[in-house]
Amino acid sequence: SSRTNVAIIGMGTVGAGVARLLIDHGDRTARHAGKTIWLSKAVVRDLNKPRGIDLPAGVLTDSIDEVLNDPEIDVVVQLIGGLSPARETMLRAMEAGKDIVTANKALLAEHGGELFTRARELGRSIAFEAAVAGGVPIVANISQCLSANQILSMEGILNGTSNFIVSQMDEKGAGYEQTVKLAQELGYAEADPAMDVDGTDAAQKLAILSHLAFGATVDWRDIPRSGIDRLDPVDLQYASQLGYRIKLLAAARMIDGELELSVAPTLVRKGTPMAEVRDAYNAIRVVGDAVGPVFYHGLGAGQMPTASAVVADIIDTAVGRTPITFQTLEYFSKDRPARTVQRD
Ligand code: NDP
Ligand code: HSE
Repeated sequence: SSRTNVAIIGMGTVGAGVARLLIDHGDRTARHAGKTIWLSKAVVRDLNKPRGIDLPAGVLTDSIDEVLNDPEIDVVVQLIGGLSPARETMLRAMEAGKDIVTANKALLAEHGGELFTRARELGRSIAFEAAVAGGVPIVANISQCLSANQILSMEGILNGTSNFIVSQMDEKGAGYEQTVKLAQELGYAEADPAMDVDGTDAAQKLAILSHLAFGATVDWRDIPRSGIDRLDPVDLQYASQLGYRIKLLAAARMIDGELELSVAPTLVRKGTPMAEVRDAYNAIRVVGDAVGPVFYHGLGAGQMPTASAVVADIIDTAVGRTPITFQTLEYFSKDRPARTVQRD
């Protein structure tokens, strides 16, 4: 068809940004997709809550069923956080013949096996670039651009909220609690910011990336992890005096055929690219056996950077260009448990 009809489910920080790009830049999306990408519906819980965006009449609804029962809708953009009803909504949408775009890494890390298996059975696609590192195109890079390589290691800052908090404390002497609040106000934090600051969100993203890079099925709970919630401002001061910054690093390395995974606050020497990653920026250093080291850097959280990744996925889905999904399906269909090694 000459038009792809899109429904967004969940119009919070990310959903409103996606709607804004689709409405304000229809010419841009049409140019890249070769057809019109049309926002048909946007589902929320509370119809009266301000969304900071003018939606055309008839778009906003509080009924998920209205979307799922509409045969004209081709793509469902699943932007409800958490596991339920996000999981059920995604399954029902695929059963109703819709392709999925999502930013929900918690859901993929928890139920990815089930969701991708069902997608394969139903011939549907699930695109999820925004689920890892927001606007940084790391999913496509690992799955496609670096696919000639055996990935040897990945190391990076995968949680924007934690990096924002540590940067503010380090550089501005800001207080922990007040900075967590600011990260929430800026739309960086998860609905429950404990997921950000205790390392859970970074572990979930690392599990997804490990799956793509190493074909490993990793339960994020098995990744040894600690967060920035246990850091004392004095730790940052001592580190600084010694010439280091503290960063919440997520790391995956193949060592003698075993995958070593960790999420932990780590000393990083000042002046190195990783140490200079500030605010809600993310960075990932990937080493491939052919390409060598590659460094990615960009905003890992926030409305428009995340919407940038979601809308690119919508365009790819509209033109049937989601090879990441097929590769991922293959991985999920194989039983390749990670040999996770605990680091001391
Ligand atoms: P928000 O909490 O801002 O938005 C969630 C939205 O989902 C709200 O609009 C809420 O509706 C809606 N919602 C929740 N339950 C239902 C329901 N049962 N029916 C209909 N709508 C529902 O979250 P974000 O936009 O920040 O995040 C969305 C997803 O994107 C999450 O999975 C998050 O992890 C991920 N993500 C977020 C990033 C960010 O920077 N914020 C970056 C990358 C990924 P209502 O407003 O009416 O309450
Ligand atoms: N809460 C997440 C973060 C959003 O701060 O990185 C992006 O996934």
